[in-house]
Amino acid sequence: MASLTRRTALVITAAFASAFATGASAEGPPPLKIKPTYKVGFAQTESNNPWRLAQTASMKAEAAKLGWQLVYTDAAGSAAKQVADVNSMIAQGVDVIFLAPREEKPLIPAVMAAKKAGIPVFLIDRSVDAKLAKAGVDYVAFIGSDFVLEGKQAGEWLVKATNGKANILEIEGSTGSSPAMDRKKGFDDVIAKNPGMKIIASQSGDFARDKGRQTAEALLQAHPEANVIYAHNDEMAIGAIAAIEAAGKKPGKDILVVSIDGEKDGLQAIIDGKMGATVECNPRFGPAAFAAAMSYAKGDKIPPIMTNKDNFYDASNAAASIAGSY
Ligand code: AHR
Repeated sequence: MASLTRRTALVITAAFASAFATGASAEGPPPLKIKPTYKVGFAQTESNNPWRLAQTASMKAEAAKLGWQLVYTDAAGSAAKQVADVNSMIAQGVDVIFLAPREEKPLIPAVMAAKKAGIPVFLIDRSVDAKLAKAGVDYVAFIGSDFVLEGKQAGEWLVKATNGKANILEIEGSTGSSPAMDRKKGFDDVIAKNPGMKIIASQSGDFARDKGRQTAEALLQAHPEANVIYAHNDEMAIGAIAAIEAAGKKPGKDILVVSIDGEKDGLQAIIDGKMGATVECNPRFGPAAFAAAMSYAKGDKIPPIMTNKDNFYDASNAAASIAGSY
C-alpha cells in the first residue's frame, strides 16, 4: 500500500490556495507562454545520495514523457556553482527553471537573475530565505515537503519510544539549507517540551553518509552518555549506525536511531532493528513540478506553497514498503 502511495508520488495539498493564490501579474513572477513543447532547466544541488538520484530520475522521466527538452545541471554540492548553473540556463534561453536550492541565502541571486531575464522559477524540495525572495512575487511557487513537520514527527516518535527520557545527539543536514534549519526546529520544539529529554550535542553531517559517520564518531566519543541519535536524513543515519557499531555498541538497543527520508537503506536498517523510524521525504518531484508549470502557463492560480504528503516508516510497515523505495 505504501509503495502504491509512492507511485502516486507527490500529492499536492492546495490548502489556503484561494487565500494566497497568485498568477502571473505585473508585480508577480514572469509569465510562461503556452507552447507545444518547452525547454526547461533543472538545477540539481548534488548527486551524492540515493535521494538526489531518485529526484533527478523523476525529473528526467517526466520531461521525456512530455517530450520536453531538459537542461540538467549538477552543482556537486557547491552553492556558487549552482548560481552559475542557473545563469547558464538563462543564457541558453530556457522557458522555465526548476531549482533545488542547496542553501537558503546564496541562491537568492540566481532566483533574481531568472526573474530579471523573464524566466519563471519553481523551487522544488528546498526553499530560499523568505525575507529575501517571495513566492508568487520573485518565483512562482515552492513545491516540497513540510520539513518542520518531519522534525516534529521524528521527535514525537522518540518521546514515545524513550518514555520521554533520552540523551540525544543530533546530526544536522547541510548548514544554511532549509531542510537542516526546519528539521532542527520541528524536532527541537518537541524535545524542549519534554524535560527528561536533552539534546546534548548537535553538529552538521552535510546530509552525507561518510560525514554523518565521522560526525557521529566524534560525538559518541565526546558524549558516552548518549543513547539516541537523530539524523536529518537516512544517509547520515546509516553513517551513524556504522559509527555506533565501530564504538562497540548496538544500534537500535544501546543507541536508538531516528531519521528522515525513507530511502531503501533506511528501511532496511529498520527491518534489521538498527533504526527505529524514518519520516518520509518523497524525492519524486517530476509529475508535480511539470504539472505546476503547465498549469501556470494556462494562467491558473498557483498556490505559493504546495506541500507534499509523506508517509512514516517504522517496524510496522518498513518491510511492506521497501520494494517501492529507492
Ligand atoms: O532537501 C531534501 C534533503 O536533501 C533530503 O532529505 C536529503 O537526503 C537530501 O540530500
